[in-house]
Amino acid sequence: MTAILLLHGPNLNLLGTREPSVYGAVTLEEINARMITAGAERGVEVRAFQSNHEGALVDALHEARQWAAGVVFNPGAYTHTSIALRDAIAGTGLKVIEVHLSNVHAREEFRHKSMLAPVCVGQISGFGWRSYLLGLEAILGYLNGG
Ligand code: DQA
Repeated sequence: MTAILLLHGPNLNLLGTREPSVYGAVTLEEINARMITAGAERGVEVRAFQSNHEGALVDALHEARQWAAGVVFNPGAYTHTSIALRDAIAGTGLKVIEVHLSNVHAREEFRHKSMLAPVCVGQISGFGWRSYLLGLEAILGYLNGG
């Protein structure tokens, strides 16, 4: 069975209560449940992991080499700062879709730059929790060559 890593970076464990006007009211647990269901409907296993620590996210990407066909990744604020995560994506060769709940390009200027986007397959931004669903469609379509 195809397996996909659903990876969440810092502060996303607070979803539901964190700036709901920006990020919506859906909790991370609920997003994970919806993604696992969406994956199952497509015959795909979705395994979710969240960390507030850059190194733990690097480790998760390294480990995913062993089992994941691709990654749907919301790197949170590390999007804009992390050379280590960029190198982990490039170094593992994993196929990654970068996703954001908010439209980062419509927000503060420091959010316009992604350190990771150049080594990702693509970026989805601004559709709330559905960015993740679109990310799943995107990675599966990409892996199927469609
Ligand atoms: C985010 C956007 C980032 O700029 C921010 O630091 C986050 C969440 C999003 O999903 O919209 O933590 O990745």
